Amino acid sequence: MFKILVANGVNLDLLGTRPQQFYGERSLKDLETFLSQAVTQSFASQVELSFFQSNDEARYLEFLGQNWDGALLNPGAWTHTSLALADRLEALQLPFVEVHLSHLAKRESWRQASYSSKHSIGVVYGFGFDSYLLGLHGIVRHLLARERI
Ligand code: DQA
Repeated sequence: MFKILVANGVNLDLLGTRPQQFYGERSLKDLETFLSQAVTQSFASQVELSFFQSNDEARYLEFLGQNWDGALLNPGAWTHTSLALADRLEALQLPFVEVHLSHLAKRESWRQASYSSKHSIGVVYGFGFDSYLLGLHGIVRHLLARERI
């Protein structure tokens, strides 16, 4: 059983009220339900998901250090600003996929830079909730491949 963390950072608690052209109409709770259903359908006995969201960067960083096999991380704006997050991810060696709801390449230039992605297995963005679903497949395939080595 892989223990996978889904960690949403700053302002992702506001999903459903943020600009809908980027983030859609659904809430964070909807996202969690969507992912739980995906796990039941595709990875029932293989994956245990844990959900976490915080607007407090210190709490977010500390939560990453718990005992996870892998993670889906959407650090929100910290993606583009936080050297502390990048340093922690480098130190933890936690396998993770970085995910974003919106299509970053179509947005402001400051959103094109990610300090965290360097330490990721890969990045998925632009697919709304499906970014997380695709990221989930990516992390599970990565963990399975690693087990076979
Ligand atoms: C986001 C993109 C970030 O640029 C932004 O600050 C967010 C959400 C996304 O999921 O598209 O808060 O990470």
